[in-house]
Formats: sequence, C-alpha cells, structure tokens
Amino acid sequence: MDILSIIDKLKTQHTASRDELIFLIKNINDDEREVLRQAAQETATGVFGNKIYIRGLIEISSYCKNDCLYCGLRRSNKNAVRYRLTKQQILSCCETGCALGFRTFVMQGGEDGFFTDEVVCGIVREIKRRYPDCAVTLSLGERGEESFKKLFEAGADRYLLRHETADLAHYSKLHPGNMIGAERQRQLYALKSIGFQTGAGFMVGSPYQTAENLADDLLFLQKLKPQMCGIGPFIPHKDTDFRGFAQGGLDLTLTLLSVIRLMHPHILLPATTALGTIHPEGRELGILHGANVVMPNLSPVEHRKDYAIYDNKICTGDESAACIRCLSLRMQHIGYQIVTDRGDYK
Ligand code: SAM
Ligand code: SF4
Ligand code: FES
Repeated sequence: MDILSIIDKLKTQHTASRDELIFLIKNINDDEREVLRQAAQETATGVFGNKIYIRGLIEISSYCKNDCLYCGLRRSNKNAVRYRLTKQQILSCCETGCALGFRTFVMQGGEDGFFTDEVVCGIVREIKRRYPDCAVTLSLGERGEESFKKLFEAGADRYLLRHETADLAHYSKLHPGNMIGAERQRQLYALKSIGFQTGAGFMVGSPYQTAENLADDLLFLQKLKPQMCGIGPFIPHKDTDFRGFAQGGLDLTLTLLSVIRLMHPHILLPATTALGTIHPEGRELGILHGANVVMPNLSPVEHRKDYAIYDNKICTGDESAACIRCLSLRMQHIGYQIVTDRGDYK
C-alpha cells in the first residue's frame, strides 16, 4: 500500500477502505502529512473560502449523572465544583455573544436532571424569540428521541453528541456498564431523522484506542453522514481513573482532521479547545489542516474554571470579548477571517 495513493483516493473519491485508513494512520510520515494537509486545506477553502465560522459556547451545567471514566465532570468526582446557570444568565451570555458577532449559541452541559425538556424548551424558545437570526445548538448528552423531538419543535437547530468511539468494546472500556455505545449511535440516527443538523465525533488518543478503532470511527462517520464532527485529543483529568494515561497526540489529531475534511468536504469541523490546550497554536494548526469552525467560550468568567472536563483547559480566565478578539487575530495571522454568520451546513 502507498500512502500518497490513499491520500489521492481520499481527495478525489472521498473514501478509503478500512485497511487503507489503518495503514495511513499507522504509517504516515511528516512529508506525506504535509501532502495530506495541503489537500485538506484546499478542500476546505474550496468550500468555505478563508471564512471561519464561530460558535459561542455556553457551558450551562457542571452537574452530571453519568460517570464517563475520562471526564472531570463525572459524578463520582467529589472534587468537582458544581454549578448551573440560570435562564437569565444564559440569556445574558447570548446578549453579549450577539453583540460580539455570534450567530450560533451552543448550550453544553453535563446530563443534569434540572434541565428537563420543559426548562430547556423554555430557554430555547426565548433565545429564538430574542435572536431570530441565530442558530441554537444543544449538547446535553443522551436524552432520547421524545426529548429530542420536543427540543427540535421548540426551535433548536443543531445537536452535538459525540459517538466517542464507534467500537462497542472500546466504548465499554471508557464508560460504566450502564452506558451503551450502540444506544448512543441509535440516538445519533434519531437526531438526524428528526431534522437536527447533527454532530458526532470522538476523542483522539483515548485510553486503549487503536488505529483500528480510529478507522472504524472514520467509517462510522461515513455511514452516519453527520453535518458536524467534533474531534480533539483526549486530555487526562487529575481526579479521574484515567489520570495516568498519556494525552492524545497533536500530529495524530491533525491527521484525522485532514482525513475527515477529505472524506466530507462540506462538514462543519471545529478546531477544538482541547487542540488549543495541547499546543499553543493548536487551533491555528487545526484550521490549516482542514477545520473551518472555532468555538470560543461565552460562559460567565466566574464559572469557567469549574467546567473542568480535562486539566489545563485554556481561556478559563478570559472575558468573552477578549477571547473573540484573541481568536480573530489568531485567524487573521494565518490568513483567515472570522465571520458573523449562522454557518449552517450547506
Ligand atoms: N455531557 C455531554 C456529552 O457527554 O455529550 C456534553 C458535554 S461533554 C463534557 C462534551 C465532550 O467532552 C464529550 O463528548 C467528550 O468527547 C469530551 N471530553 C470529556 N472528557 C474529556 C477529556 N478528558 N479529554 C478530552 N475531551 C473530553
Ligand atoms: Fe457527563 Fe458528558 Fe462528562 Fe460524560 S462526558 S461525564 S456525560 S459531562
Ligand atoms: Fe481565549 Fe485566546 S481564545 S484567550
């Protein structure tokens, strides 16, 4: 097998076999990665030009009923500081965000029983009433089809639910027994069929992950065809069982971003905060490898450090206005421009 022909196939046919993906993941060298990067960047600029979409992230709750082994918000972490934002606080984040040019608000949080369908629908309706030209994205975990339908009817446009790993045996090494990978995948298909612009995704370098698992993640994306995909390196959290595992690699994450861009030219692909956490220019590198979205934080500064899903998360002390200024400059520096746009999937 030859890596350059696999890259060419990804670029021209937007696909590769499982064996080819595994071979590429295991063997790509720096020169070949540069060929892959250029192809992915060209593909992204062919679709989006030099425009970067922004999403304002509002971290609405650090309470979670789940116990994912990798996450600092897992319920058994007794050191986690728990908070939840009020409707007023969330609306005030949107007000700040709208003035700063955001046209998508992402409400993300742990699976917190306080945020019932009624509560979330009320907040979604109010955001859509006040900011009718803005998109609302939810990332509130597995809620089931009936809940998703209500949220969609209330006006939510998009839903992010990373599949975490497509391999069900690997999934069960990252989650307690009550969390089932097949169920998560089923909920992703439900989101799509309800009409949400749907986001899947996975951590790169999570404990016990193999190249075969990553190839299966790529093939899962090809089957699901989500409109969005969030990937970022696994980063250990000191108060979880996975504290001793290595963080995911920069090069591997960038390689996968490029492969995903080539397999899905139109997909909305963020350069994630986790990528910015493992390297000072991680988000810029992500864009240069085919990503087209950044998700600066709009959460109230006093709670930022408490949404601690992994250690050393960046931007925990910065006001929203400072973050968006910083990111705009970072994007300009590499020849890109942040735009005021809902940035829907086209
Ligand atoms: N509770 C919701 C859920 O799990 O879908 C949304 C919030 S959760 C914190 C968002 C994402 O954070 C997860 O899908 C997971 O991929 C990522 N994450 C959690 N712990 C992480 C870690 N230690 N390193 C990198 N990413 C992590
Ligand atoms: Fe809860 Fe999401 Fe963290 Fe899992 S990843 S513990 S569901 S916040
Ligand atoms: Fe938050 Fe630079 S993006 S401070």
